[in-house]
Amino acid sequence: MTVLEAIRKTTEFFERKGLDSPRLQSELLLAHALSLPRMKLYLNFERALTSAEQDKFRELSRRRGTREPLQHIVGTVSFCGLELACSKAALIPRPETELLAQMAWEHLQALPEPAPNVLDIGTGTGCLPIAIAHRCLGAKCTAVDVSTDALRLARSNAEYCGVAERIQFIESDGFSALEPGLRFDLIVSNPPYIAASEIKTLQPEVRDFDPLLALDGGPDGLVFYRRLAAEAGEFLNPNAPLMMEFGDGQAPALREMFSRQNWVVEAVRQDYSQRDRFLIARRP
Ligand SMILES: C[S@@+](CC[C@H](N)C(=O)[O-])C[C@H]1O[C@@H](n2cnc3c(N)ncnc32)[C@H](O)[C@@H]1O
Repeated sequence: MTVLEAIRKTTEFFERKGLDSPRLQSELLLAHALSLPRMKLYLNFERALTSAEQDKFRELSRRRGTREPLQHIVGTVSFCGLELACSKAALIPRPETELLAQMAWEHLQALPEPAPNVLDIGTGTGCLPIAIAHRCLGAKCTAVDVSTDALRLARSNAEYCGVAERIQFIESDGFSALEPGLRFDLIVSNPPYIAASEIKTLQPEVRDFDPLLALDGGPDGLVFYRRLAAEAGEFLNPNAPLMMEFGDGQAPALREMFSRQNWVVEAVRQDYSQRDRFLIARRP
């Protein structure tokens, strides 16, 4: 079987399984199986696969056919140009979260403070503090998660990216394990925000492979934001911002919730699809 035949056959298989972008998925998986950049496949369409390569590609395709995410099969994800390991231990970082990382580092880069302190609540793979520490060489980050497995993955990602000495990882339920006197120049969070009843309607890649802990935002999806609105203020320096990601349609409820808790809602920003996705609030 040639490279092109393998791609065509697997594309048809993925189509039958209902995958989005079946041809692209097939090419990415074959490139991974052959340890080649994807574009190199185009120069090798007529090359015959060895039987070992065919076996490997068949097994990877079978896994993807069960809706296991491509990122879990390949084992990595790209986030802000950095390569991060990903697994069932933590949510696969999403492209829109790169915008939150960018907002954070742009804010920090404009501060006069040369060594700002940043707190990330619910760090998962560690994508946010790792990207922030990578862009802001003076920044020191504290990354909190309630999941031991996620923290282990985040720490190893930070080591791989060369920023581990500037990130402290703390196992904590929300703010509970943080010392009361701590103050940060910025808090970021992409908390679990799916309403519990909606989880069963998510794509299998998300529902069956992202940790429930990373998705479940309680009955209305807003449980974690209530904790942020009530508790984040005392961990911020005067006028320092809280930047959060949130789910579709949650902007009005969050505006109201944060205003009622004496926050100034500075901005609601949109994602790549022009949907409201991020809220920036400050305590005056
Ligand atoms: C939506 S994921 C976001 C992960 C990562 N920040 C990202 O953007 O890809 C939410 C994270 O919050 C963590 N989490 C859930 N409940 C928590 C709690 N009570 N305290 C701290 N972290 C929590 C989950 O383990 C998960 O890693």
